[in-house]
Amino acid sequence: MISARLTIDPHFQVGPVHRRVFGSFVEHLGRCVYDGIYEPGHPTADEEGFRQDVIDLVRELGVSTVRYPGGNFVSGFRWEDSVGPREERPTRLDLAWHSTETNAFGLHEFGSWLDKVGGEMMLALNLGTRGTLEALDLVEYANVTSGSALADQRVANGRTAPFDVRMWCLGNEMDGPWQLGHRSGTDYGKLASQVSKALRQLDERVELVVCGSSNAHMPTFGAWERDVLMEAYDDVDYISCHAYYQEHDGDLGSFLASPVDMDRFIETVVATADHVKAVKRSDKTIDISFDEWNVWYQDRYRNVDKIEGIENWPQAPRLLEDLYSVADAVVVGGLLISLLKHADRVTAASLAQLVNVIAPIMTEPGGPAWRQTTFFPFAITSALAQGTALEVKLESPTYATERYGEVPQLDAVATHDAETGRTAVFVVNRSLTEEATVTIDIAGLGDVTVQSARTISDEDVTAANTLEQPDRVAPHDNATASVDGSTLTVTLPSVSWTAIELG
Ligand code: AHR
Repeated sequence: MISARLTIDPHFQVGPVHRRVFGSFVEHLGRCVYDGIYEPGHPTADEEGFRQDVIDLVRELGVSTVRYPGGNFVSGFRWEDSVGPREERPTRLDLAWHSTETNAFGLHEFGSWLDKVGGEMMLALNLGTRGTLEALDLVEYANVTSGSALADQRVANGRTAPFDVRMWCLGNEMDGPWQLGHRSGTDYGKLASQVSKALRQLDERVELVVCGSSNAHMPTFGAWERDVLMEAYDDVDYISCHAYYQEHDGDLGSFLASPVDMDRFIETVVATADHVKAVKRSDKTIDISFDEWNVWYQDRYRNVDKIEGIENWPQAPRLLEDLYSVADAVVVGGLLISLLKHADRVTAASLAQLVNVIAPIMTEPGGPAWRQTTFFPFAITSALAQGTALEVKLESPTYATERYGEVPQLDAVATHDAETGRTAVFVVNRSLTEEATVTIDIAGLGDVTVQSARTISDEDVTAANTLEQPDRVAPHDNATASVDGSTLTVTLPSVSWTAIELG
C-alpha cells in the first residue's frame, strides 16, 4: 500500500480553467466525418444527415472548441471546394491520407453541426500548398457579415450570419517532413508573420495559433519554437503543441508516466516563448494551444493504416481506429491533469480526435455509437473542472521508468469555483500493483462533503469497450472517499484515475 498526501487550498492558484482546454478535433481523415458525425441514411440521422446518436454523445463528452478540417489534410485542402451546392463540389484526392474527398461535408455543414453540439469553431488554414490570399479569402467568407463578394457568397450559400471564427491555426505541423509545404522554422515563421498581419488587417478579433513542434521528440524541437517565434512573436497569440503517447514494448510503467513528458514539453515551450519575449523586450505573453493530444498506437496500426497506389484512393477508409483500454483511459485522465496543472499558460487544447479516428466515440455505419474508455476521464473532467486550477502540493513516493526516469507514483490537480463553492480533485495512481491511500488536507475549503467520487480501474487493465461489448468499461463509484473534519481520505486502486467532487 502506497501513502500520499496533498493539500487543497483555494489560495494555491495556477490560473483560470479555460473552457477551450476541453476542445476536440474533427479532421477529414478516415471515418471521422463520413460514417462518424455525418451519415445520411443512418436511422438516427437528422434532416442534414448528422447522426443524432453521435451529437448526443459529443454533448455528453462536453467538448468546447472543435478544430477543423485538419490536421495533415488541411495542407492540401482548397476550402472553396467544400462550399456551395453539394452537386457542384469537386471530388479531390487527399494526399495526406491517400483517400478520396467528396466534399459532401464542408464548412457550412460543420458550422451547422457545431450549432447542434454547442461547440466553438476553430479553423486551420492551409499554409502548406497555399498562402496569404487564400487565407484572407476564407476569413472574409467566414467572418464578414455582407457587402463583399465572398461574404455575399456565404449568404447565398445559406448562412446569413457570419461564422465569426476567432481561433485560426496558421497551418498544421509545419515542422514535420511529412507535411505538404514543410519548411524551416525561420521560413515558416516569416510566412506565419505575413499571413497574420494580413488577417488582422481584415479582422482584428482573430486569435492566431502558430505551429510549434509536432512532438517534443522532433530533432528540431526547441530550435523550431525559437526560430518561429523570433519571426512571428508580435503577430500571434498562441503556439501549438502536439503529443501522442503509446505503450512501447509492454512498458506500462513508462506509458502511465506519459503526463510527466507532457509536463516537461509544456514547461520547455513556455520557457522558449518567454526567452523570445525577453529578447524582444515584449510585454506580450504567448499562450499554448495544445491542439492535438491523445493516446495513439502508431506502431500497432502502422500496417493496417497504410494505403498506397495511384489507382487506390478509398473514400472514408477505416484509419487510425485505435481501441482504447483501461490503461489508456488512465493515461488520458493523467494528460488532462497535466493540462490543468498548466492552466496559466495552456489556455486551449484539443483531444485528437473526436469520432472513429483515435477517438473517444466509435460508430458503425447503420449501427450503434458507443463510448471508448477514454471518453470517461474527458467527460468527467470537462464537467467538474470549473473556476480556477489549484496546485495541490503533492507528496508521493516515486518509481523508476525506462523512458522518463524517476517519476511520482501519484499525480493530482484540483479546481475550485469561488462562486459556487464547488471543488474537484483529479488524481491518478500509476502503481502497477499497489493501492494508494491519499490523505488530503482540505482545511482551506471550510465545511464540505463528498458529492461524488468516481474511479476508472479494472482487474484487467487491457479491458475495452467494443461493438460487441460497448459497456464493458465504465467509471464506478469510489465509496472509500470520506471527509472527517478537515481531512479527505480516499483509496485508489492500482492503475486508476479518480475524480472527487466536493461541495
Ligand atoms: O491526428 C492525426 C494526425 O496527427 C494529424 O492529421 C496530424 O496533424 C498529426 O500528425
